[in-house]
Amino acid sequence: MRGTFGGGEGQGWHGPDYPPEAGRTDIVRVMVKVRTKSKKVDKAWFQQHVTDPWVRRAQQEGYRARAAYKLQELDEVFQLVRPGQCIVDLGCAPGAWCQYLRRRLGVQAGPDGQVRLRGVIVGVDLLPVEPIDGVHVLQGDVREDSTLQALQATLQQALGQPPQRAVDLVVSDMAPNLSGVQAVDAARLEHLVELAVDFALQHLKPEGALVVKVFHGAAYDALVRLLRQHFVQVKAHKPKASRPQSAETFLVARGLKG
Ligand SMILES: C[S@@+](CC[C@H](N)C(=O)[O-])C[C@H]1O[C@@H](n2cnc3c(N)ncnc32)[C@H](O)[C@@H]1O
Repeated sequence: MRGTFGGGEGQGWHGPDYPPEAGRTDIVRVMVKVRTKSKKVDKAWFQQHVTDPWVRRAQQEGYRARAAYKLQELDEVFQLVRPGQCIVDLGCAPGAWCQYLRRRLGVQAGPDGQVRLRGVIVGVDLLPVEPIDGVHVLQGDVREDSTLQALQATLQQALGQPPQRAVDLVVSDMAPNLSGVQAVDAARLEHLVELAVDFALQHLKPEGALVVKVFHGAAYDALVRLLRQHFVQVKAHKPKASRPQSAETFLVARGLKG
């Protein structure tokens, strides 16, 4: 079924926040033009979007996307974020997770009187992201070495030390553009999750944590196995802000093995 990702939900789009082929459209403050082949899907998505209580709440609380509440719930359940941490956000556009992380880390005045973030946040996305005060954002494709090198360089600069084993938390909300062919889409998602795992294995502190978005379906069991191979604790959690009809869920892995 086109647009569903392994879950066979029949809703016409795979994810909670945006219709198929629309690119980034879960920005809540700006209703962007949505280019899809199906006007019906557009209309249904738009209607659900404007009446969605999470969208309204995001607007009221200044978040760029309702996705912020997914990370908030994961943080509340798994106690992921603490001031002073170094956090990497893979697939960060439009920036709601970075906004949430920034609020959780908080700010403090430095010796020079300048207000600074209590910790480090580096986000990366294929798409440009409106700047967020104190947050480092890069534009690039995490499948490319040049992006990973730029990410490392940014971390090194922000931390003042090599970033290997210096990151407390890696979060990935990355999702591939859907082709409609389930096997292809599953492989694309699997690849993005594998890249997030590779990055986490190279950069996390031994007690660090990784959050990855996955979809129930073909690749799910293999991805759980992959995480269990490398992390002491692996748990799945679907936040309330993730639409029930979406196959989306999140895996939270903690503590590097060996
Ligand atoms: C659901 S959105 C993330 C929303 C974000 N967590 C927030 O709160 O605003 C998924 C993002 O993953 C990004 N993405 C997908 N594949 C990527 C890749 N290969 N490299 C970098 N970003 C990627 C997309 O551009 C998209 O912006």
